[in-house]
Amino acid sequence: MVHTSGAATYPSVVMMIQAPYTQAMKKKKVSTIFAISLVLLLFFYLVNIVALFFLVNIAHVISKSYTTLSSSTTTTTTTPDTYRQTYMEEKLWTRVWESPEPSWSITCDTAHFEYDLCYLNRPTVVDPTAATLSSVDPTNMTPPTVIKIRPYPRKGQPEAMQKTKELKLTTTPLNTTCAITHTTPALVFSAGGFTGNVFHDFNEGWIPLFLTVDEHFIDRDVILGVINCSDWWLIKYAELFSHFTRHPIINLDKETATHCFPSAIVGLKTHGVMILDPTLQRRPHPKTMHDFRALLANAYNNNNNNNPGHSSHAGHVLPTFSSGPRPKLAFLSRQDTRRLQNAEEVRQAAEEVGFEVAVFEVTAGTSMRQLFKLIDRSHAMVGVHGAGLTHQLFMRPGAVLVQIVPINTGWLADMCYAKLAVRLGLEYINYEVGIHESSLEADEFALKEFLDPHDPASTLMGNLTNWYRYMEQDVKIDVVRFKRYMKRAYEKAEMFMNKQSLYADI
Ligand SMILES: *[C@@H]1O[C@H](CO)[C@@H](O)[C@H](O)[C@H]1NC(C)=O
Ligand SMILES: *[C@@H]1O[C@H](CO)[C@@H](O)[C@H](O)[C@H]1NC(C)=O
Ligand SMILES: *[C@@H]1O[C@H](CO)[C@@H](O)[C@H](O)[C@H]1NC(C)=O
Repeated sequence: MVHTSGAATYPSVVMMIQAPYTQAMKKKKVSTIFAISLVLLLFFYLVNIVALFFLVNIAHVISKSYTTLSSSTTTTTTTPDTYRQTYMEEKLWTRVWESPEPSWSITCDTAHFEYDLCYLNRPTVVDPTAATLSSVDPTNMTPPTVIKIRPYPRKGQPEAMQKTKELKLTTTPLNTTCAITHTTPALVFSAGGFTGNVFHDFNEGWIPLFLTVDEHFIDRDVILGVINCSDWWLIKYAELFSHFTRHPIINLDKETATHCFPSAIVGLKTHGVMILDPTLQRRPHPKTMHDFRALLANAYNNNNNNNPGHSSHAGHVLPTFSSGPRPKLAFLSRQDTRRLQNAEEVRQAAEEVGFEVAVFEVTAGTSMRQLFKLIDRSHAMVGVHGAGLTHQLFMRPGAVLVQIVPINTGWLADMCYAKLAVRLGLEYINYEVGIHESSLEADEFALKEFLDPHDPASTLMGNLTNWYRYMEQDVKIDVVRFKRYMKRAYEKAEMFMNKQSLYADI
């Protein structure tokens, strides 16, 4: 048996040495050897500690060199906080315009699902009659380009793009001279596509315009050049223009003179359906839907009624709320599709719950300012899924939105209006219509499809025949069931109302 441990070998060594000596000598030797062993042990112990100390130090030095290595590749400053600050300040205050290739006359960002954006980085001539924008490279460094673009952020839907005028962007000089020369850059976009439906007016128009102007132009210093610029659009949204630009807008459909700009952007950005995504904005104060709502409030709430469009426009008259103490419910009625067949019963139920109810309908002639006034004063709004619910943009944060969701339209209801309600800080209540509350109860085919749990509604509605089948169903609400939802809406609305009056008193 081999003894390897220290404690076991000491006695054998002692025995070998001790043999020729006397007992007294033996004792002295043993204690000396013991002392030597002790000193040796202590020595190794110290060596160990020193070695460990060095190892720890080396590890520390190595890890430190890694962090300096990785941070030196991104920034020269030391802490993440100072890095962030300098980066943002640089971006925001010295360069708002962000062309992907600023040395080229024209560069386009086409990587997005819904939009293309082209930057004309040099002086740009706009010839409206030829629907052409020319930005010439004086050094002839870049090869001549011709780019066709439909500046409407709905690239994913050809039906929309077909209804959008195409523009030609070129680096070839135009055969014209400037009739009007501007010192402000231009933003050219289309109010065509699906414009005309209020959801699309905002989703592909005003919200993308808000985003694009905010991202690229300081202090609304931009000239808006609009194509597919219909008269009704100019009249309907007359109050809004000055909140996006400090300059008069140019209707490029009617304009015949050539305009020259120091530079131009063609197209509008979008972050998705009814959203201003703060995570996609590289700035210290990213905008949200609350900022957009504030813009609308600013545009429609002020008392200067110098809007030529609607003050003289005898559109249909909207109801008004009394100054009574009950929570106010704006009841959105639809007349074309997805009609509420027992609207009167539903209205009564809402009143019985305690609401003051104003039933209203939105038509082409409805004044946006009046609509804002009605909805901004409400504590709750209810309506069947549809474009009219876009007017929740006019509601105050904390108010209640009830969306009545017909069969198989839940995915659309969620995408277009439910998520928007949350972004706007509204209290959202979803009322999903049951099969017995839908006109589809009589439709054998739809009934069969509806009952098939494996068929996701969005796929089902990818087929246009099915799309219309579901989008054109009418609804007859089970009033007893609906009243329970209205009670909940009432409680939330009342709480909101009380909070509002509390703030008003302070
Ligand atoms: C350019 O303008 C001139 C003078 O108006 C005209 O004669 C000529 O045909 C034009 N050229 C082109 C390419 O349009
Ligand atoms: C936009 O303009 C194009 C080309 O002029 C036209 O074909 C299209 O119908 C227009 N769309 C709308 C919605 O005005
Ligand atoms: C759409 O669905 C209907 C009903 O199932 C069917 O008759 C039609 O062929 C479908 N259309 C397409 C393009 O798939």
